[in-house]
Amino acid sequence: MTEEGKVTPEFLKLYSDLANGGAGAIITGHMTVGREGKGHARQTCIYDDSYIAEIAKIVDVVRSSESDCKIFAQLSYAGRQVFHDNKIAECVGPSEIPSPILKKKSKALSVDEIKIIINCYSDAIVRVKKAGFDGVQLHGAHGYLLSSFLSPYTNRRNDRYGGSIKKRITILREIIAKARESVDDFPILIKMNSSDHVEGGIDDETFPELVKQVEALGFDAIEVSGGMWDCLVRSEKELGFFPLPIPESRTRINTLEKQSYYVPAAEKLTLDIPLIVVGGHRNVESLEDIIGRGNIDFLSLSRPLISEPDLPNRWLEGTGSEMADCVSCNSCLLEVKSKPLKCILKQNRLKQKILKNLVPHIWKLIVK
Ligand SMILES: Cc1cc2nc3c(=O)[nH]c(=O)nc-3n(C[C@H](O)[C@H](O)[C@H](O)COP(=O)(O)O)c2cc1C
Ligand code: SF4
Repeated sequence: MTEEGKVTPEFLKLYSDLANGGAGAIITGHMTVGREGKGHARQTCIYDDSYIAEIAKIVDVVRSSESDCKIFAQLSYAGRQVFHDNKIAECVGPSEIPSPILKKKSKALSVDEIKIIINCYSDAIVRVKKAGFDGVQLHGAHGYLLSSFLSPYTNRRNDRYGGSIKKRITILREIIAKARESVDDFPILIKMNSSDHVEGGIDDETFPELVKQVEALGFDAIEVSGGMWDCLVRSEKELGFFPLPIPESRTRINTLEKQSYYVPAAEKLTLDIPLIVVGGHRNVESLEDIIGRGNIDFLSLSRPLISEPDLPNRWLEGTGSEMADCVSCNSCLLEVKSKPLKCILKQNRLKQKILKNLVPHIWKLIVK
């Protein structure tokens, strides 16, 4: 959006291209449910009724596409992960925990402040329904506020909002209960970390029990992902992948083994609701294998669709390579806060050569 909270023609074209490109459903970028939860200056907002008409334009372009693509709005509150360009948002979380990336401590929220944020979420869910979306997804992954409540690494509380899995998910229980009073059976999905990739955080061992308890709260689908900014100070050896922003979008996916990196964690789950998995899906033949194994219902893609919005149609038609064009370099993230989202490599072959080698160094400078 613009800093004033208006959608731009480029923003709407992106959604139109995705809907026409063969995606079965789109989950939007995360929209902030609170003014103080805005992660960066141009983030999409849904914390006030005045934004309903703006985000309804996304629904309009998707509905006017040639496909039957569904559209879900993702909702978040930045919490501990606030970019420096944001003058309003405070770095907050369940507990006072230093952020090795932002070099400051998050302020621990009081119970009254948590209740205000719960209301922000339920009000935003009502607005998303009014705007005509097919459903919402709570962003409970990647270290943002809900993710920081779910993680024992960032949630060290000993009240109703922390201390055990049951208590760490209280915030979700209260959001969903409050929202259901107004939106009834409107689909509410959640995206979660299968691993925070930090010591003391959610990991592959503890994730199945966490998911079981979250499913019981009444969500309609769960999307599996992983990572939070704090893990970026760890080494490649400790992480098992190269630490570049953003950790959920891994770089250097240059072998089949490095693709679909959250599928192993997701395949351990047995859920009664649809299971979606994101992260590093690049080869259509291996994606067919994953779906064929039967445990995972949907696969979601981000960077391959920035590079080729019509990739689903291309794969359906069987034209071109079974591989996505995206080389997972994360150059598209370098400019995303100030310029319309695009695949930087696709635009310019010379840039492609230079950037592929430079991006790790550029990121190191930005992060330090
Ligand atoms: C430019 C960009 C913006 C992203 N924004 C979000 C977001 O708003 N919400 C979210 O859950 N994930 C976001 N992600 C992460 C992706 O949804 C996805 O989890 C990650 O990129 C791994 O999938 P991929 O290999 O298909 O890109 C973003 C990724 C990129 C590259
Ligand atoms: S810049 Fe292009 S190739 Fe690189 S990660 Fe982004 S979409 Fe993929």
